[in-house]
Amino acid sequence: MAMAAVMESGEDAFKQLFKFYKRRKPPPDFSEVINFSGNLCTGKVVPIKLNPTAVSDAAASRVGLRPALDWRAFGLQGCPGFIFISDPFRKDSQPFWIRQCLKTYPQKPNVCNLDMHMSPCDTQDIWERSVNKKSLLERLRWVTLGYQYNWDTKLYSADHYTPFPADLQSLSQQIALGCGFGDFRPQAGILNYYRSDSSLGIHVDESELDHSCPLLSFCFGQSAIFLLGGKQRQDPPTAMFMHSGDVMVMSGQSRLFYHAVPRIVPANPSLFSSKLQNPPAPPDLQTQTTPLETNSVLEPVSEQDWAICLRYIESSRINVTVRQVLGPGQSFPHSSEMSSEYPA
Ligand code: OGA
Ligand code: MN
Repeated sequence: MAMAAVMESGEDAFKQLFKFYKRRKPPPDFSEVINFSGNLCTGKVVPIKLNPTAVSDAAASRVGLRPALDWRAFGLQGCPGFIFISDPFRKDSQPFWIRQCLKTYPQKPNVCNLDMHMSPCDTQDIWERSVNKKSLLERLRWVTLGYQYNWDTKLYSADHYTPFPADLQSLSQQIALGCGFGDFRPQAGILNYYRSDSSLGIHVDESELDHSCPLLSFCFGQSAIFLLGGKQRQDPPTAMFMHSGDVMVMSGQSRLFYHAVPRIVPANPSLFSSKLQNPPAPPDLQTQTTPLETNSVLEPVSEQDWAICLRYIESSRINVTVRQVLGPGQSFPHSSEMSSEYPA
């Protein structure tokens, strides 16, 4: 069925396209999906000039990014503030970030979906328990960092905070700087882990208390289709591919635009293997504690760790969203009530 035929049936455009791209049999036609790493012949895409002088090459390199002058950034007509950066990562740095997402960030005190029905001692070593084939990693769906997001109330908790990872904070701040956001403060993170048949429904991220701050999104592993609509739930969305290493920034008006991930798409095998090369670790890796270069947040990924990561991302996708919850000087309503109990 062609996309045009779907659009005629009356149901709102976003729902229709979500179903269209989610469908298994027959598989949908992907010819209208924007591919920022391919030929960009569509008139909707506009190249964006970033702010490359705000990011030094050394600062970019320390978090595994290429010099900001080389970042290929795009916007979409009708989506003010939306920035798509097509894989700005240095050739060898994705393995580190993928290892962090699978091995480090799921660890306590961060919270994951498995904690909802398993005891802390059963979820404290997801990674070690995934070395063998009955893998807990396969059942990981989400991890929350910083101000803990409550999936039921859709509220961030003022008093349940786990330290935001310093490396991910640095990475996010360099991306934000390059996009013109000099004072971005990462305060909450949500990692979503997708299997090949997973999807993410139509939503807006509005739980943060200050919507003037950008929201950053990092993609690793298998590819996906991202639908970006508008301010109204029914507004017709634009479909685009997200590949491993791609970064999206939702700021300005598009910060509150409806969006969804209807489908995970197998990554192009040759592109995938060329991007995801784990640099050979120094021979003394077991004892090594010094980073790859001065002040780098990157650490070598051992062969054993990379084997587990690779097996995982060969069929799965990881998405990391980084959010500033509070504006400058803002505090949670509840915590400010509390503080009034104390003398100034
Ligand atoms: C989210 C989100 C998109 C993605 O976590 O809010 O929209 O690409 N993620 O997984
Ligand atoms: Mn979202």
